[in-house]
Amino acid sequence: MSGITYDYMEKYLRGLIGDSKGMLKELEDFAEENAVPIVQKETARLIEFMINLKKPKKILELGTAIGYSSILMSLASENNVTITTIERDEKMVTIATENIKKAGLDEKISIIQGDCLEVLEGLDDEYDLIFMDAGKGHYSEFLPHCIRMLSKDGIIISDNVLFRGMVACKDLMIRRKITIVKRMKKYMETISKDENLLTTVIPMGDGIALTVRRNENENTGTISSSRELGEA
Ligand SMILES: C[S@@+](CC[C@H](N)C(=O)[O-])C[C@H]1O[C@@H](n2cnc3c(N)ncnc32)[C@H](O)[C@@H]1O
Repeated sequence: MSGITYDYMEKYLRGLIGDSKGMLKELEDFAEENAVPIVQKETARLIEFMINLKKPKKILELGTAIGYSSILMSLASENNVTITTIERDEKMVTIATENIKKAGLDEKISIIQGDCLEVLEGLDDEYDLIFMDAGKGHYSEFLPHCIRMLSKDGIIISDNVLFRGMVACKDLMIRRKITIVKRMKKYMETISKDENLLTTVIPMGDGIALTVRRNENENTGTISSSRELGEA
């Protein structure tokens, strides 16, 4: 069990999505054979969905690995979309560069090699979609930079926010993961309680949080009942 959803549910939903084809399938096979963590199938589908919905022009990704999700996002996007993706592992950068070139997407996807926090500190662009998928224990440090660079109607998608269920249930806790889990809980509190942000968490894959800015003038309280609104 994933600690987040039931196996039968995961199997059923993955069956509906079906198998990937071409380069994405090759990368999925490579990732499995070489134990490289890439987005789960349902997460990949959600990202494609959000790209169709929001039509971002500029995307920022934290955590490239072999380039799977950046290629997926590029293929799901319109032609003029650019993606900047950050990865600190030199070996991954080499593999991702090759994969992106092979996919013919090297004009659209640029990899910045380095630690996310250091790279983010030096970036000053505006992004419509930010996909956070690196350094689970450091999301809280990445967040202020992501908010600073998020366009007005932009969205931050953070993966692994429930971390095999451990973030929500201490019975699932693995001792050596305590620090990551504590830090992820802090991140979840921040994105859920910040009055300027609106976050929803989807308990699928490894847990995905979707965060946008609240509309100006929006009532940030809990949804008022019709009685409170004086309509009873
Ligand atoms: C889960 S993988 C990314 C998977 C990728 N988004 C995909 O789905 O195809 C996370 C990657 O982030 C990298 N990483 C972890 N912490 C990092 C950090 N602080 N700065 C830059 N990269 C980091 C790891 O080396 C790893 O390749």
